[in-house]
Amino acid sequence: MSKKRVLSGIQPTHNSFHLGNYLGAIKQWVELQKDNDTFYCVVDLHALTIETDPKLLENRTLLSVAQLIAIGIDPKLCTLFIQSHVPAHNQLAWVLECITGFGEAGRMTQFKDKSQKGGADRTNVGLFTYPILQAADILLYQADFVPVGEDQRQHVELTRDLGQRFNNKYKEVFNIPQPQIIKSLAKINDLQDPNSKMSKSAASMTGVVELLESADTIIKKFKSSVTDAGKEIKFNEKEKPGISNLITIHSAFSGKSINDIENEFAGKGYGDFKLQVAEIVVEALNPIRTRTLELMDDKAELLNMIKLGSEKANLIAEKTLSEVYSALGLIAKG
Ligand code: TYM
Repeated sequence: MSKKRVLSGIQPTHNSFHLGNYLGAIKQWVELQKDNDTFYCVVDLHALTIETDPKLLENRTLLSVAQLIAIGIDPKLCTLFIQSHVPAHNQLAWVLECITGFGEAGRMTQFKDKSQKGGADRTNVGLFTYPILQAADILLYQADFVPVGEDQRQHVELTRDLGQRFNNKYKEVFNIPQPQIIKSLAKINDLQDPNSKMSKSAASMTGVVELLESADTIIKKFKSSVTDAGKEIKFNEKEKPGISNLITIHSAFSGKSINDIENEFAGKGYGDFKLQVAEIVVEALNPIRTRTLELMDDKAELLNMIKLGSEKANLIAEKTLSEVYSALGLIAKG
């Protein structure tokens, strides 16, 4: 049986990934490398929708590549690349923009949230077309599966719609992908606001646990996490969102079931539990932080490690793009 094609991406919009990115997406990426044909990209063009100092963006892109490798993304097993190294992403995005309805793009909830927060004057057109560039990222590689967190489901649905629309209108060029979302990890919540997802754009970072921060800071963040009324360690997302979020995090790192965790902490208080979760997280993140910093010591070597990745990505992307252009009636260069 031929291997399934998997594609996913992550934005270099922050100095460090956070626990939501790690548990909701990247941990799956590592697993999927073994038995699938995997493509992972750092989507630096998407990050331009947020104005960033150029030096900072450069550093964050490298830090993103380094973190992915430190977590276990292996450039020898998968195709790891930087989005802007493959021009076909922008080229296909334009084609897809021409078959996307204005209203359809305006219904994307992430766009609505972000543009409402920023107001019309601070919202750029790139933010509006963002999901269409994401659709191009996915369709170019004929992906079967897109491993992401729940917040990206709508963008993958749009990708499916656009792929199908193109296929029906012009020619069967695109494979139609499916989102791959692990239900229990699809939404890791903010430690201070356990009804909202942990997010890079949170107003305060006190509830956001970053992979590269120090053990002391991580412990402090868990110790001050918001918990719920009552004192039992029980999983109940509605009544105990804070404790349930901590149980999910514990389970993801320790590999223990929710039931086993509840039994282990029966009769113990919230304080003990928070400290235990913090210690498990610190222990797991420590080697990731150390390895990331080592990799960042030699930036040229880091880029060298993914050079083959962008060459391979370009070959596949160009092939799909030329099929698209030909289906549209655009004349080949000859
Ligand atoms: P980004 O960079 O915001 O996040 C990267 C991945 O982390 C997941 N994630 C979460 N999962 C669980 N709980 C959370 N609190 C949490 N926060 C983030 C996201 O769902 C995502 O999988 N638009 C994408 C980047 C992108 C992309 C693509 C993804 C661009 N092109 C093509 C897949 C395929 C984004 O902003 O992810």
